Amino acid sequence: MQGVFKEKNKIFTENPACCEGIRVYNEKLVKHEDKELRSWNPYRSKLAAAILKGLEFDIEEKSKILYLGAATGTTVSHISDIVKDGVIYAIENSPLAVTHLLKISEKRQNIIPVLGDANHQDRYYSIVSPVDLVYQDISQRNQSEIFITNIEGYLKKKGKGILMVKARSIDVSLKPDKAYDLVCSELKNRGLKIEEKIDLQSYEKDHAAIIVSK
Ligand SMILES: C[S@@+](CC[C@H](N)C(=O)[O-])C[C@H]1O[C@@H](n2cnc3c(N)ncnc32)[C@H](O)[C@@H]1O
Repeated sequence: MQGVFKEKNKIFTENPACCEGIRVYNEKLVKHEDKELRSWNPYRSKLAAAILKGLEFDIEEKSKILYLGAATGTTVSHISDIVKDGVIYAIENSPLAVTHLLKISEKRQNIIPVLGDANHQDRYYSIVSPVDLVYQDISQRNQSEIFITNIEGYLKKKGKGILMVKARSIDVSLKPDKAYDLVCSELKNRGLKIEEKIDLQSYEKDHAAIIVSK
């Protein structure tokens, strides 16, 4: 992926000049030529796990992203390093987590924290404009529905979606593979095309990344 530096089984993103020396979640900072790189922990970020497991999808420098379930900004901060000329609308329903996001966004001005419930995509309509990528990491039983309604509301025609699925949130009685298949059929039934499915096992137990297009 552009903007991601790889060395053996480790990946890094470039800390922007405005954030030199600043860590977001106690990640390692390393010097590489004239750059400062931040190590991206695949045990803390499912996107890092997906990249290390061969994700083909590319996030471009100018991408606009709707990120659902931003938490305290671990993954959002690395995407912020990648989308130098883009923007991330970071939706999170925990006020405490949004306080962290606000702090991070003081320096990282491509992050727009939004205290909101992703179940009600119409409530942040005045803030979020059409995006190139809808990314969702909310482990709830109705996570496919949340993902689909946000795609319908905000994704541009040629945009993509990444859904991080937690098998046990879908149905505890199903084997993980069956739960992923169930989610894929729900997405297909609503007109989305499955581009990739990546099992995150070894980094994140019983989770998969599903990449879709319209
Ligand atoms: C697994 S964590 C996300 C971790 C984060 N994506 C990362 O990699 O750094 C899920 C987050 O979704 C948030 N969340 C749960 N339900 C939500 C909802 N309906 N709307 C917005 N955020 C929600 C939780 O508060 C939690 O912070």
